[in-house]
Amino acid sequence: MASTYAAVYARWKSEPSVFWSEAAAAIDWFKAPDIAFDGQRGVYGHWFPDGETNTCYNCLDRHVAGGRGEQTALIYDSPVTGRKQRFTYREMLTEVEAVAAVLADLGVGRGDRVIIYMPMVPEAVFAMLACARLGAVHSVVFGGFAAHELATRIEDCKAKVVVAASCGIEPGRIVAYKPLLDAAIDLAVHKPEHCLILQRPELEAPLSGERDVDFALSVAAAKRAGRPVSCVPLPATDPLYILYTSGTTGQPKGVLRDNGGYMVALAWSMKHFYGVAPGEVFWTASDIGWVVGHSYIVYGPLLNGSTTVLYEGKPVGTPDAGACWRVVQEHGVRVMFTAPTAFRAIRREDPEGALVAGYDLSSLRCLFLAGERADPDTLQWAERVLGIPVIDHWWQTETGWPMAGNPLGLGLLPVKHGSPSVPLPGYHIDVVDDAGHPVGPGTLGNIVVRLPLPPGCLPTFWNADERFHTTCLAEFPGYYKTADAGYIDEDGYVFIMARTDDIINVAGHRLSTGAMEEVCASHPDVAECAVVGIADTVKGQIPAGFLVLNSGVSRESSLIEQEVVTLVRERIGPVAAFKTVVCVKRLPKTRSGKILRGTMQKIADREAWKMPATIDDPTILDEIREALQARGIGI
Ligand code: COA
Ligand code: AMP
Repeated sequence: MASTYAAVYARWKSEPSVFWSEAAAAIDWFKAPDIAFDGQRGVYGHWFPDGETNTCYNCLDRHVAGGRGEQTALIYDSPVTGRKQRFTYREMLTEVEAVAAVLADLGVGRGDRVIIYMPMVPEAVFAMLACARLGAVHSVVFGGFAAHELATRIEDCKAKVVVAASCGIEPGRIVAYKPLLDAAIDLAVHKPEHCLILQRPELEAPLSGERDVDFALSVAAAKRAGRPVSCVPLPATDPLYILYTSGTTGQPKGVLRDNGGYMVALAWSMKHFYGVAPGEVFWTASDIGWVVGHSYIVYGPLLNGSTTVLYEGKPVGTPDAGACWRVVQEHGVRVMFTAPTAFRAIRREDPEGALVAGYDLSSLRCLFLAGERADPDTLQWAERVLGIPVIDHWWQTETGWPMAGNPLGLGLLPVKHGSPSVPLPGYHIDVVDDAGHPVGPGTLGNIVVRLPLPPGCLPTFWNADERFHTTCLAEFPGYYKTADAGYIDEDGYVFIMARTDDIINVAGHRLSTGAMEEVCASHPDVAECAVVGIADTVKGQIPAGFLVLNSGVSRESSLIEQEVVTLVRERIGPVAAFKTVVCVKRLPKTRSGKILRGTMQKIADREAWKMPATIDDPTILDEIREALQARGIGI
């Protein structure tokens, strides 16, 4: 089909309020909004300020009322436990109502915060929707984060209740969540009133005192009581969730998401971008701890009346590199979405894609990739072995849905490998120089989005309007700063090349090198340190730490390196994949004392690098190169 993209984008641009008001008709409102956007409210404005709605109602109740009750809403497929389960929309509603009843009995109501620290189990999705039903604000914390990170989040959002599981299951090891949760609560000054614990048979956790409540027993009791819990009508601008993401300091940013605008944007994207119809199976292979999981495992597919797949496994090793093809075949997946790193992992195990031939993938229409740069080599490999369009698209936790992409639902535009294609309606993307002046086509610069951001994007950070303004809006007045650098070509295609801050992307997981430096620096023998992201063939990037030890430290440097690795794992979590550490005599710096992280990264990545004119002492770079060489890194 010929693409209608240009016409749709132009229509949005000429009448943005009308465009989004029309899109708002895709969801049900208790009170339909008369106003699309109010620029006087909030930090840069609010979408649908006078609308009233409920996200859980739109994800479940209205589908049951509308005749979709017997359709499968969620397929749980867990190769790590061997369990598989299907829930119809009606069954989901029963489960969610029961969890909502339990939370309400624990005192959770509109505006209260609930942390969800769970692996990829259906109960995690029920808990998210139960919060939405009550008007409570959930904050899902990824299982790969350690107690300290969990504590920071409990503290920042002042969680009233934590919903957690006894354990998560990683290939080859069981991750005991409960001790991490207990340690986090010990660390946090703010104490949640209750912890609702899902006992998993792989590793049950001892429950303590009044605080801990058994998830399954309480939910069963709520079901027996059969008390209906209706959806609370909420202002569209009420928060649905807080999702913490790495910022430029150790203190994560609480990205806030509203109810109304988010639903309107997701509903639009499911149909017009991903091209998924109600009733079709959509599989996002990610984790509910990330924004991709929030938007496209949970809320997007359910709003759309589609069937979503919740996969508790990896692309490789559970049991092999054919795992994804097995899921596609078994569940009739129409559209799949994952991060490029998953395909790099599959390709490493099965370079010719031989395992694909063993499965019937005729249901699969398209593969979407996001979360990190899709290197053309991996993308073309995926195209070749799958024989379907493979679409790179670009967005971030802050935006909640794609900023740029090739819209399958509007008819695909020509693919340019290396580019996530064109801006989507809602996003006026510019590239500006450091002084904020727009640059011409093909010129590298800061990628910014003209305000107001469209529905679905963050209105602010949780409890931190000022930080939101300073971090995202102040540098380029009138624009939202994405902190990505890149360019737009003559045809309007966007190319994302690098971050402009200290964020690195490790297996699609967003991490702050600054936060890792804070942990390294806390080791008593470390005088100074630098962490940079270096290239990795599967994970895209991995962190590498450089330590300068205090003078007079006589212990083996390899011992200290190991201790620092353990410290980062304990404080940030295994997800940081922090395993490469080198002790060096000095760090390369400019004469004004700025550490030359970029040059260190280039040396490690065997990229061409120039001797910085401002360097304090050029011989340090030789020392860095030798230290890396000794570890087999760099030239
Ligand atoms: N709970 C506890 N630990 C977890 C975890 C969780 N939910 N998720 C990951 N970890 C641990 C892993 O076990 C690993 O620990 P290890 O150092 O002991 O091996 C560490 O965190 C790093 O995990 P990960 O980055 O997932 O690496 P991996 O080597 O286990 O797997 C991939 C690599 C590419 C297969 C994996 O990252 C993947 O499937 N990615 C798919 C896409 C994706 O999820 N993207 C996210 C954003 S869209
Ligand atoms: P997160 O907030 O975890 O989703 O990470 C968002 C960041 O990941 C973006 O700001 C980019 O730096 C990077 N990113 C996401 N998708 C892409 C993509 N398709 N191409 C390049 N970088 C991407």
